[in-house]
Amino acid sequence: MVDHGDIGRRRQREVYLGGMRGRRSPVPSDPEELEVAASKQMSPEAFAYVAGGAGAQRTVHRNRQAFDAWGILPRMLRDVAERDLRVDLFGRTLPSPFLLSPIGVLEMAHPEGDLAVGRAASALGIPFILSSQASVPMEKVAATMGDGPRWFQLYWSKSNELVESFVKRAEASGCEALVVTLDTTMLGWRTKDIDLAYLPFLRGKGIAQYTSDPVFMERVRTQPADAVEDGGGISLSAIKNVLELAKSYPSGFAGLRSGEALAAVRTFIDIYSRPNLSWSDLSFLRARTQLPILLKGILHADDARTALNHGVDGLIVSNHGGRQVDGSVGTLDVLPSVVDAVAGRIPVIVDSGLRTGADVFKALALGARAVGLGRPWVYGLALDGEAGVRTVLENLLADFDLTLGLSGQTSASELSRECLRALDDG
Ligand code: LAC
Repeated sequence: MVDHGDIGRRRQREVYLGGMRGRRSPVPSDPEELEVAASKQMSPEAFAYVAGGAGAQRTVHRNRQAFDAWGILPRMLRDVAERDLRVDLFGRTLPSPFLLSPIGVLEMAHPEGDLAVGRAASALGIPFILSSQASVPMEKVAATMGDGPRWFQLYWSKSNELVESFVKRAEASGCEALVVTLDTTMLGWRTKDIDLAYLPFLRGKGIAQYTSDPVFMERVRTQPADAVEDGGGISLSAIKNVLELAKSYPSGFAGLRSGEALAAVRTFIDIYSRPNLSWSDLSFLRARTQLPILLKGILHADDARTALNHGVDGLIVSNHGGRQVDGSVGTLDVLPSVVDAVAGRIPVIVDSGLRTGADVFKALALGARAVGLGRPWVYGLALDGEAGVRTVLENLLADFDLTLGLSGQTSASELSRECLRALDDG
């Protein structure tokens, strides 16, 4: 297993000694500067898609503010020379309490997209949750990750046959858990994308899991002819992108004609979202896989309890990085109530808004087993490819490790609410 022992001081040494040789990273460690640097590197459309939240961006901000409601109470003289960042999750000991939350359309940040992220995650032993909206088919990402842990994020489409196919492929690709995202049965009202009138999927970006899927492609090929012939405003570049994707996997799709590429985009738009998804659908999944099933997007304690009753294996408290419901509660606002509701029966993970080691510390102290990281590593990817993702993750690991020790704590898995104090001005 990858060992993150003493990563805080190791990272400081690397950075400062690098500075003696005139080296500085192109990837800022400050989360706001990181975002600014990435905004200069990325196209306006790519940056808007990644950074943007729903509506007036209130939830994007609330996610950050929610961390200010808690202060860390450092303890002294407790021998913090050795710190243990490891946590146990679904029978695996992870080197740190971090996961990479699923993010789609990574080709907009960097041409190597998911492959670069997969390599960086694998080198650090951090599980990468492969996105249903990835730019690279899961098989290819898995192949580049070796033994590196990975999970699969599932968007439940209108076709259960396609859902089943995704699940089988995820299992065959060595994914160790399924993350069903619940909060995106429709896309939120994303003002930045609306104003640029840009949706990557229409351009054939972020649909590689679909164009590499036999069930999906069968559906494409059996579309009525008019859907194939009628351009419907979908551009030539979309067609080229899909043709390029389809070429890569599996080999049988190499003969895809441009009419079919167009149909693939249209079929995707037709199929990807299923607004009538409800609790009773979960049994379909349970009957088809032995993998742990996590629900992502849980914010209400009652939903957490209902999830327990449906035999779910884990929860991810998430509001999709503020991309779905403008004005939603921040995830840290509700983490304690969800943790209390499940009472230790299944692990709770939290994402949306984590940017610093202190954020991670607070989330764990409030009962999260691990945290999901999102936008920052996409910014690292945009700035410096695989190395940039690694830099962002190593910086955050270092920050967390030092925060842990300097707070008088030595074990990531043993933090408790005792380590925090609720602040009035949060
Ligand atoms: C999004 C979906 C693809 O947030 O997860 O854009």
